[in-house]
Amino acid sequence: MKVGILGSGETGLTLGRGLVRAGYNVMIGTRNRYKEKLQQWIHENPHTAQLGTFAEAAAFGALLFLCTRWTGTQAAIETAGVWNFRKKVVVDVTNPLDGKGPDNMGRLHFSPGNAGSGGERVQAWLQDAHVVKALNCTGQQLITDPHLEEGLPTMFIAGNDDLAKKAVTDLLHHLGWRDVEDTGGIDMSRHLESLFMIWWAVGFRTGKWHHAFRLLRH
Ligand SMILES: NC(=O)c1ccc[n+]([C@@H]2O[C@H](COP(=O)([O-])OP(=O)(O)OC[C@H]3O[C@@H](n4cnc5c(N)ncnc54)[C@H](OP(=O)(O)O)[C@@H]3O)[C@@H](O)[C@H]2O)c1
Repeated sequence: MKVGILGSGETGLTLGRGLVRAGYNVMIGTRNRYKEKLQQWIHENPHTAQLGTFAEAAAFGALLFLCTRWTGTQAAIETAGVWNFRKKVVVDVTNPLDGKGPDNMGRLHFSPGNAGSGGERVQAWLQDAHVVKALNCTGQQLITDPHLEEGLPTMFIAGNDDLAKKAVTDLLHHLGWRDVEDTGGIDMSRHLESLFMIWWAVGFRTGKWHHAFRLLRH
């Protein structure tokens, strides 16, 4: 399957590496394809990895990942062209942070004016696409290799379309996320985005970043 990733930060590139390893054909969309790490990724995977603009990656993928910094997300979507997302499944990995980094207590803050959630905003920008919030509530260190000493964590997802959530669940299984929990519609994104704040706070307080959430059931 062809997958497009918008954004080539640590999250986009980690996802690119993991998806290629899992057998997908991947194009990362970026404003700067000459970054050393991207060129190395292409060099190591000449047949399955490609680089393009945001528009080229969005047109390439049958399934798309949004891995942009929140403050640049709307611009990235506009540059990519909303028509390139039409009827596609779009995995929203973003967290709607204000982009200022941690305050003096180590806390991150949501973008002001974001009364709902990032996931809902993305769905509103991409009304003809099926947006699924996923992979946002743990660090990029684990998103394509979620194996921890204490076991496999749970990935929580949210979205309005059941078939889209099924497609994302299958893909997550290929990345090693065996336990995927559907939390409901895209409006549940606000709670998944808050989970990221907890994930971050634990990392900041302990100085360790290899942790993730797990749902225990009877
Ligand atoms: N880092 C994590 O552990 C983690 C975990 C879960 C979720 N997330 C979320 O995943 C997203 C990506 O995280 P990251 O750490 O990889 O972020 P990042 O390095 O800060 O940014 C990712 C990419 O966003 C694009 N971007 C930034 N400003 C832009 C603008 N003004 N216009 C268009 N594009 C712009 C850039 O793409 P190009 O440079 O390719 O042009 C950049 O490489 C964020 O929303 C983050 O909250 C991150």
